[in-house]
Amino acid sequence: MTALTRERMTMPQPSKFWDRIAERYAKKPVADEAAYQKKLQITRGYFRPDMEVLEFGCGTGSTAIAHAPYVKHIRATDISSKMIEIAQGKADVGGVENVAFEQTTIEDLDVPDESLDVVMGHSILHLLADMEAAIAKVHRMLKPGGVFVSSTVCIGDFMPWFKFVAPLGRVLGLMPLVKVITRRELEASLTAAGFEIDYAWQPNRGLFIVAKKAA
Ligand SMILES: C[S@@+](CC[C@H](N)C(=O)[O-])C[C@H]1O[C@@H](n2cnc3c(N)ncnc32)[C@H](O)[C@@H]1O
Repeated sequence: MTALTRERMTMPQPSKFWDRIAERYAKKPVADEAAYQKKLQITRGYFRPDMEVLEFGCGTGSTAIAHAPYVKHIRATDISSKMIEIAQGKADVGGVENVAFEQTTIEDLDVPDESLDVVMGHSILHLLADMEAAIAKVHRMLKPGGVFVSSTVCIGDFMPWFKFVAPLGRVLGLMPLVKVITRRELEASLTAAGFEIDYAWQPNRGLFIVAKKAA
């Protein structure tokens, strides 16, 4: 039995965790509304009306729906079918027609190389088993000159000890897989994949980054 198979058998599956908390997540207010609005504004500075956008780990869809009027199309994906159901409900109520919500993981997502203008992944990179593989995949999906926009909690910078707590919380089903990464590690992963950091802002514990693929 491989280590990965053993882990899959003993750890709760991430989709189950996120399905379970989706209703509560949808009702939770944004922690820092002013910072969130500024991140939306900065992201829009990179948009054009003809752009094809992907968001992975879109949760209940608020960010994709907020950006929908500024681009041609957004494919918004999440591992949790419950999150996607809530997101689709919001889009239906708002009459949003250019966002396609879809239940899939970043690992299984099939996107042709160099086909996207912008990829967004917010509060998700530190939740992935293989962040480097996801970043490399995003780099492949982007057109030359395309950008990857991401907000990530770099827990390693303010709670490095959390790496001892996280595995226990996960086994007990109280939290998903959480990687204790630092800002330096995240920036190094992005540059190792071929990105240049075009913009970085850290208003709170979340690091907001726009990483650009060479034109
Ligand atoms: C902390 S929430 C962030 C949601 C949203 N991006 C936001 O900023 O509010 C993390 C989301 O990532 C999703 N997720 C976790 N692992 C994933 C994976 N491997 N592929 C795609 N989505 C995943 C979860 O279902 C959840 O909706």
